Amino acid sequence: MEETLNVFYRVERAGAIRLSGGGGPFGFDITRAMLVDDLLASYRCDAVVETGCFLGDTTTYLGTRYPDIPVYSCDIVPEYALFTRHRLESAGRTNVVVSCADSPGIVSAVSGLYECPLFYLDAHWEARWPLDAELAAIRRGIVLVDDFDIGHARFSFDSYDGRGCDAAIFAAMPSPPERYWTPDPDAVWPLPCLQVGRRSGAGLIAVNVDVQPLDLHPALIAHELAPEASR
Ligand SMILES: C[S@@+](CC[C@H](N)C(=O)[O-])C[C@H]1O[C@@H](n2cnc3c(N)ncnc32)[C@H](O)[C@@H]1O
Repeated sequence: MEETLNVFYRVERAGAIRLSGGGGPFGFDITRAMLVDDLLASYRCDAVVETGCFLGDTTTYLGTRYPDIPVYSCDIVPEYALFTRHRLESAGRTNVVVSCADSPGIVSAVSGLYECPLFYLDAHWEARWPLDAELAAIRRGIVLVDDFDIGHARFSFDSYDGRGCDAAIFAAMPSPPERYWTPDPDAVWPLPCLQVGRRSGAGLIAVNVDVQPLDLHPALIAHELAPEASR
């Protein structure tokens, strides 16, 4: 936790030029970083994949916080991918690979290389929403979908063409999970969240790995994936 604290608040918030929450790793929500840290440890993840790096705030955090595992990120906008790659190279982060690519291709390629990657899915803003294709490409690992509707007014979520980022996204997967998890908005974390602006919700699933660490996490709430979620 000390190391998370140390690294998290040393990352410059380059994303502030466009991100409504002012940029910073994980939207400047350190509870998200602590959750990711718990999951990386309990699942002994052997890689991290971020989709949509923008200017690399979260990529920089992940690459610095976890120097011993490979971190993959990508962006479909060449300038964003180039900026992030340069940012990471300048910081000497040799464990990070940044590609200018459509995210489902990266997810698919990395998915086959590792035992249990953690996928942080945060690619949006363009005309096409890549989330369905990203989820369909995951063979195995832990998945955290950013900007997910957790049904709480304090937490924002994404939507495309009237379709919300919610349980229906999981229900539309080729092999839908039986359950998914969302962060408990009332959970008490060892460090306070200093993001006083926009916070985003998150939805998590386990793909072909044990669900127990998600079930046992004190800050996560489990949900059955109801059939009505497929609409
Ligand atoms: C909200 S920003 C990501 C913020 C970043 N993860 C962070 O924490 O600072 C979303 C990014 O996704 C990228 N994006 C949109 N569609 C994409 C796709 N199909 N493949 C890769 N990147 C995509 C956008 O260009 C944008 O930079």
